[in-house]
Amino acid sequence: MKSPYSETVLEHFRHPHNVGKIEDADGKAQEGSPACGDMVAVYIDVDEKTKVIEDIKFESYGCASNIATGSIITDLAKGKTIDEAKKITWKDAADALGGLPKIKAHCSVLAIEGLRSAIRNYEESHGLITNREPTTLDTIRRRLKKVMNPIAGLDLVRTNLVKHIEFKNGTVRLSIDLPENHQFAPAIKEEIMEKIEPLWDVKEVIVDFSE
Ligand code: FES
Repeated sequence: MKSPYSETVLEHFRHPHNVGKIEDADGKAQEGSPACGDMVAVYIDVDEKTKVIEDIKFESYGCASNIATGSIITDLAKGKTIDEAKKITWKDAADALGGLPKIKAHCSVLAIEGLRSAIRNYEESHGLITNREPTTLDTIRRRLKKVMNPIAGLDLVRTNLVKHIEFKNGTVRLSIDLPENHQFAPAIKEEIMEKIEPLWDVKEVIVDFSE
């Protein structure tokens, strides 16, 4: 049977480039796909002066297409400025891979979102965001939709784990419907912090788990 994947996809899947984690990365993000529940993490190191992505790594918990796309976009982004890298589209990735089956479009979108979020995380944590819209409950909810609930493979909001969101005087307070000693509680908390803390007008994030 003929494989639905191009030779290039198979090659990047078998021997992905830039796999791994950068400890203390300048920017990082983990993104989950609502379509399949898979996840990808992207880490970048950026030259402070030139804003060139000097190093980039990714970890994929997704399928062959996602691994191949992660591999190709890290190749494409390395050596580019963050502004250039932001413009890489899933179509650029699919073209560079010699095409992807249509049904697998969300897998490459997931990898691209991981890259864009890592850049956004870098910009937010380095005070580079110029468009300073005030944070609202909606902003927070949108970000929580990107935190996966590993128990269900869907995000925290869609699986009703977020019981309450409050934002007052720079403090975000969240109630999560999971016992504090649950095996996934520390990972979920870490991801919440990663997504919410960089918001420019957020000073503190408090996560309350249930008893
Ligand atoms: Fe989930 Fe491809 S099916 S990333």
